[in-house]
Amino acid sequence: MRTITYHQQGDAARVLRMHEQPEPPAPAAGQLVVRVLARPIHPGDLAGVEGVPGGPRQRFATPRIPGVEGMGVIKAVGGGVPDLRPGQRVAFFPVPGAWSEFVTVPADLAVPVPDGVSDKSAALMLVNPLTLLTLLRAVEDAQHSQAGPVVQTAAGSSIGKLVSVAALKHGIPLVNLVRSATGAQTLRQRFPGLPTISTADADWRTQVQDATGGRGAQVVLDAVGGSLTGELAGLLADGGTLITYGQLGSGSTPLESLALTPRALTVRGASIGRWMTRTPEERAEDVSFAARLAESAPDLFEVAAGYDLADFAKAIDHVRRPGKSGTVLLTSPAS
Ligand SMILES: NC(=O)c1ccc[n+]([C@@H]2O[C@H](COP(=O)([O-])OP(=O)(O)OC[C@H]3O[C@@H](n4cnc5c(N)ncnc54)[C@H](OP(=O)(O)O)[C@@H]3O)[C@@H](O)[C@H]2O)c1
Repeated sequence: MRTITYHQQGDAARVLRMHEQPEPPAPAAGQLVVRVLARPIHPGDLAGVEGVPGGPRQRFATPRIPGVEGMGVIKAVGGGVPDLRPGQRVAFFPVPGAWSEFVTVPADLAVPVPDGVSDKSAALMLVNPLTLLTLLRAVEDAQHSQAGPVVQTAAGSSIGKLVSVAALKHGIPLVNLVRSATGAQTLRQRFPGLPTISTADADWRTQVQDATGGRGAQVVLDAVGGSLTGELAGLLADGGTLITYGQLGSGSTPLESLALTPRALTVRGASIGRWMTRTPEERAEDVSFAARLAESAPDLFEVAAGYDLADFAKAIDHVRRPGKSGTVLLTSPAS
């Protein structure tokens, strides 16, 4: 089978290689072998390959395979898995090694794909909705003592659009930030009910202040970080919370520059990496939310383009293209 591997963290275009490897062995009890048809390239997958900006780059004794999410067709079912059968479509997360033609999946991490959901939507069915739930819980915690406006960065991202839909549904006073005038125009057309501001405007900080009714934000939901962090902390009302969940930007901001103490600000992270600490019942509820969303709102599972696994370098270039809308998939044939 074909698989993408890396031995050492570094520039993804340089360190990733395609290899032929033996297919996984027959599944053990409680496992499945899945022929993967499509897997997303998430920014987090590339961050795993590249390492923390400015940090040490790890070398691995055995090669790593990127990817934690995907969809495919069950090839074989191990013992003790009565409710899944070969030929059935499933989505899976978190399963390391999704950038391979076959993966071994613990049966409890495989989610049957509803009939009305396309293969493409199914490939994105789990990580983004589960991230949305993680972020909404973090926002709710942050607003526990004092509710108020929420500002989000990278609002045109796949996650950002899910946040916008949820804000409109739940009446969260959301202000969207994007980095370009074109991005702002596109998002205003998509979500006319939400203020959208471009950080390319010289007066963007004043526009945010106005959009929050002069109060400042109670919460900033940030996927950009880096040198923007100081500006974002400046948008918060005293007592507000900066929730960081991504690092799309460059540069850095010293913690000491954020006036955390005099303004009683909180900075916290939010990560889907903690999702497995939820109880099995809670995870089952989250997964059925994700599957229902994929069925009812396929437009929220937008695919920017699909590339064969062999064209991973072109696919990664596409992921990094400014103005891209939706998620890039790596595909492999059904037989
Ligand atoms: N913490 C978690 O558990 C978790 C889970 C999933 C995703 N995430 C994070 O969520 C974020 C969004 O992921 P996604 O898959 O939804 O992304 P996506 O669909 O690929 O969209 C990326 C967006 O980020 C914008 N962007 C890129 N670089 C930027 C920069 N330097 N400054 C401002 N905006 C920038 C792009 O804007 P343009 O349109 O202008 O190009 C685009 O709208 C990522 O940071 C990702 O790592 C975190």
